Amino acid sequence: MVNRQCFHVFSAFCCGALAGVMLTTPANSFLRLRLSIGEHCSPNVEDISYWLQQSGSDKFHTHHYERYYKSWLGDMRCKHDLKIVEIGAQKGQSLNAWERIFPNSEVILGVAYGSGTTRLEDHVSKRISLLWGDQSKKETMDAVVERGPWDIIIDDGSHLPQHMMYSFFSLWQKALKPGGIYVIEDLETNYWRDGDGLYGYIFSSVGIATTANYSAVKKIDQIREVLMRFQIGARNLTVAPGDGELCAIEWGMNIVRLRKCTEAEVKSNPPWAPIHYDEHMMDGWLREAHSTNPAL
Ligand SMILES: C[S@@+](CC[C@H](N)C(=O)[O-])C[C@H]1O[C@@H](n2cnc3c(N)ncnc32)[C@H](O)[C@@H]1O
Repeated sequence: MVNRQCFHVFSAFCCGALAGVMLTTPANSFLRLRLSIGEHCSPNVEDISYWLQQSGSDKFHTHHYERYYKSWLGDMRCKHDLKIVEIGAQKGQSLNAWERIFPNSEVILGVAYGSGTTRLEDHVSKRISLLWGDQSKKETMDAVVERGPWDIIIDDGSHLPQHMMYSFFSLWQKALKPGGIYVIEDLETNYWRDGDGLYGYIFSSVGIATTANYSAVKKIDQIREVLMRFQIGARNLTVAPGDGELCAIEWGMNIVRLRKCTEAEVKSNPPWAPIHYDEHMMDGWLREAHSTNPAL
């Protein structure tokens, strides 16, 4: 009897407290409170901006990538078993943001390396884990492949153009799921002056006139050509491992997203058209494009 009375008093107290929270908390804050404890997931894309801002990451404060991430990530927000890897963990700020933005995610892996990675272990949680390693080293990329496949791969690492392409070549085909997205941030470094430095690296041969040997932007432009291959009949038009699985590229300000086709999209690829390009010219172009591929 006493126990039952206690239970009723306790229930009344809890309901009152919950009602109080609901009445005094603005609607979107309440939603965020629920999101943060992982009970519910709302597809509200504005939360993507909110959590990026709250995290203190330069993704919001300097670059305003929330503009792109809202549309690129919005439809994956509530996905279960989602796996995200970000190269460039630094202080764990964006890892925290991903944990909030994707409340049902399974794994958020940060590739950590170099200076400024202090107290990163404090952010390790049930879903956030770390992999220590250099993105330009085969063993690091192999470890990312081994822990995949991933729904989302984000390169916010050294920002050295050669590293951007080495990681892309290592991961796109082997580590990204069908329908997955691959984002490279801070492409402005592809236009820095010869001799500029970041994280101890000295940039060389960069600038608007440089070649795909030194520019990830130029290399991705070569990969973009592959999207046309069906309707010009160019069966041999391939410049990167797995580029035949590319469905879309979207450029933003200093950022690019490459989207892998879903299995259904592969089935609905356009039919091959008769060849209507100059094969000799295409072979020359391909030889040059392949000469700028990073050695894996
Ligand atoms: C721009 S910060 C990452 C910021 C973080 N993603 C965020 O939004 O809060 C880039 C990080 O990449 C690290 N880094 C530098 N060289 C690297 C390399 N070769 N491989 C992986 N990470 C590297 C830097 O030390 C730094 O911690």
